[in-house]
Amino acid sequence: MTDLIAKYDRPVPRYTSYPTVPYWKDAPTSAEWIESLNRTFSRPDGPNSDKSWSLYIHIPFCESLCCFCACNTTISRNHDRYEGQYIDCVLAEWKTYLAQVPDLASKTLKNIHLGGGTPTFLSPQNLARLLKPILSAVNTDPKGFEGSIEVHPNYTTEEHLKVLNELGFNRISIGVQDFNLSVQKLVNRIQPPKVTAKTVDDARKLGFTSVNFDLIYGLPGQGMEEMQYTIDQTLKNMPDRIALYSLAIVPWIKPAQRHFKDEDLPAPEEKRALYEYAKTRLLNAGYIEIGMDHFSLANDDLLLAMNEGRLHRNFMGYTDQKTDILLGLGVSSISASPDCFHQNQKILSLYEAKAGDGEVPTMRGHKLTAMDQKIQGQILQLMTGFKTRFLDAEQEAAVTERLSEMLKDNLVSIENSTLTISETGKSFLRIVCAAFDERLAKAKPEQNTFSKAI
Ligand SMILES: C[S@@+](CC[C@H](N)C(=O)[O-])C[C@H]1O[C@@H](n2cnc3c(N)ncnc32)[C@H](O)[C@@H]1O
Ligand code: SF4
Repeated sequence: MTDLIAKYDRPVPRYTSYPTVPYWKDAPTSAEWIESLNRTFSRPDGPNSDKSWSLYIHIPFCESLCCFCACNTTISRNHDRYEGQYIDCVLAEWKTYLAQVPDLASKTLKNIHLGGGTPTFLSPQNLARLLKPILSAVNTDPKGFEGSIEVHPNYTTEEHLKVLNELGFNRISIGVQDFNLSVQKLVNRIQPPKVTAKTVDDARKLGFTSVNFDLIYGLPGQGMEEMQYTIDQTLKNMPDRIALYSLAIVPWIKPAQRHFKDEDLPAPEEKRALYEYAKTRLLNAGYIEIGMDHFSLANDDLLLAMNEGRLHRNFMGYTDQKTDILLGLGVSSISASPDCFHQNQKILSLYEAKAGDGEVPTMRGHKLTAMDQKIQGQILQLMTGFKTRFLDAEQEAAVTERLSEMLKDNLVSIENSTLTISETGKSFLRIVCAAFDERLAKAKPEQNTFSKAI
């Protein structure tokens, strides 16, 4: 494995979308984006279109900065300034959409996800002020509606969870990252295990049906002993799902990551060994590996979806709830329709000015070509099922050449025009996806765009 890592570890996209964000070129105007939403809702019914939709709301605020963090955040303790004005702007953005895309009110909303930042930066009362007008204007799925939220236990009270539960939220994703005080000090995130355990208990007592833990491997100060402790503590809580993320190191985007000293970070082969150790422990404890870096208990919906070939992946990670439309509200939120990506203004003041004025706060996006959509489907198949069929002989020849070394190393195999990733090859999944990425092949990114694969 050490030799393979030395041979293949290089910067590649994470493929939460195809084309990946640096290759978004043909941006829709706000009017074209609205048109794409209306067009999608009015398509005839078909196997791939059930007209339901998903909603994401981004709350960017955090009280203090964890220095590993690659998310879009605004660090402040000024709750008065941020809670009131921001909620008004998100509600104004929602009203703009509702007026221009009336189907949002009548078609089924399958799930809502609150992400951040720290969504519980908002008080319980303000969470209700934000969510009630939205949820009361739409039709939520009577059978399987999912409401999920990302929480940092230090800032999450029982009252927060109670209000969310009353609004129909049933899934909680808890940011843990690492349970060791030594690591937590290095990343500026002191989070005692008992605080995490209390959030788990509160959520379960209130009736949340799914608890997820986010863990990260490759953090500064993390060695085998620390990973052992983190997994021990994780197993005490037995979350239904675990995301075990590789630390993405992108200091050119996130200068706070410059606080790490290189010597504090595990070397690439040590980093991979941490993942393999954690994976073995989780599998032994009854978890099953889902796609890339995700694990779930045997009775979890993600596993069912994987076994039935319904597993899906979007900007938020793996999900069993595929919808044609993902609408993102809030600063920097990304939305997707079958033929368009759309991202909101990333700078808070610009977002608030536009959304508050009743405009769709478009910053950038991409209109997908027919070829983009086909490759998007293949990358999704690789990410969710580790195999895909070539589109034609030309693509097969190009990909075969790009992966010639990986074929020799038995990391992938090709038979009957279908590429399959081997068990060992799964560690290099993003590199395989990159071989299908025609936009990457045509124009290499400028230096320092993507984090490394391992
Ligand atoms: C928006 S944050 C989570 C919610 C909450 N703010 C918290 O910290 O608990 C989403 C997740 O992204 C992951 N994450 C953030 N920065 C990362 C990085 N540089 N590399 C890998 N994962 C990262 C963390 O696991 C984090 O829990
Ligand atoms: S990890 Fe979570 S709490 Fe920490 S800075 Fe990032 S978004 Fe905020």
